[in-house]
Amino acid sequence: MQQQQNNSVISVEQNNIENSVNFTKKITLAITGASGSAYALRLLECLVAANYQVFVLCSSAARVVFDTEVGLKLPSSPSAASEFLTEKFTAKPEQIIVFGKEQWFSPVASGSAAPKTMVVCPCSTGTLAAISQGMSDNLIERAADVVIKERGQLILVPRETPFSTIHLKNMLSLSQIGVTIMPAAPGFYHQPQSINDLIDFMVGRLLDHLNIEQSIMPRWGYQTQ
Ligand SMILES: Cc1cc2nc3c(=O)[nH]c(=O)nc-3n(C[C@H](O)[C@H](O)[C@H](O)COP(=O)(O)O)c2cc1C
Repeated sequence: MQQQQNNSVISVEQNNIENSVNFTKKITLAITGASGSAYALRLLECLVAANYQVFVLCSSAARVVFDTEVGLKLPSSPSAASEFLTEKFTAKPEQIIVFGKEQWFSPVASGSAAPKTMVVCPCSTGTLAAISQGMSDNLIERAADVVIKERGQLILVPRETPFSTIHLKNMLSLSQIGVTIMPAAPGFYHQPQSINDLIDFMVGRLLDHLNIEQSIMPRWGYQTQ
């Protein structure tokens, strides 16, 4: 009995997510070093607005891309990054929690605690390859492996052009086991007027797949002519 009590105290302290019980909807968002940081930021904003608790995993290459593409300097320390993103998106306390690449005791690392849904947006071809092979060599790869083994919903948003045969084979093998491959390929049939419209096209489609109500992109057949 004593042992059990100690364990429960330890796990709460290690993960530092005391208030997480307040959020009924949880999702893992991994951001890797492919081009398209703006998609990740907009998706995070929408998930916060939809009252999700978001466990954010960000590779070091993703931080370089953030800086290059949108001038955002995401702190490398997970707690500082959590604070930074919480402030940026006016999120509730503990609504956005960033985990480091070797935080093996975080909820996303185990099928017993991980959210059943995970998005990798954008997804580098490197992370795509690692996930397709079940490498689990960092927390992003491990979290994806957990969602696959638990038969949850995993959505990857790869960006590269052209795709090599290796990339295509990796995507095929993941698709065959139920992973959704949604390449960052915004359409133009809704006559986008700005880059934000293109970003919202992709994020709107992602939210559709996550079953999250959205009105950020017009739907096919319902557009004002
Ligand atoms: C500005 C910038 C843009 C990049 N764009 C892409 C890209 O679109 N697709 C891709 O697969 N890799 C891209 N890379 C390369 C990846 O960041 C690199 O392969 C890295 O090792 C991926 O690591 P990660 O999967 O841990 O994030 C880019 C790198 C930089 C610095």
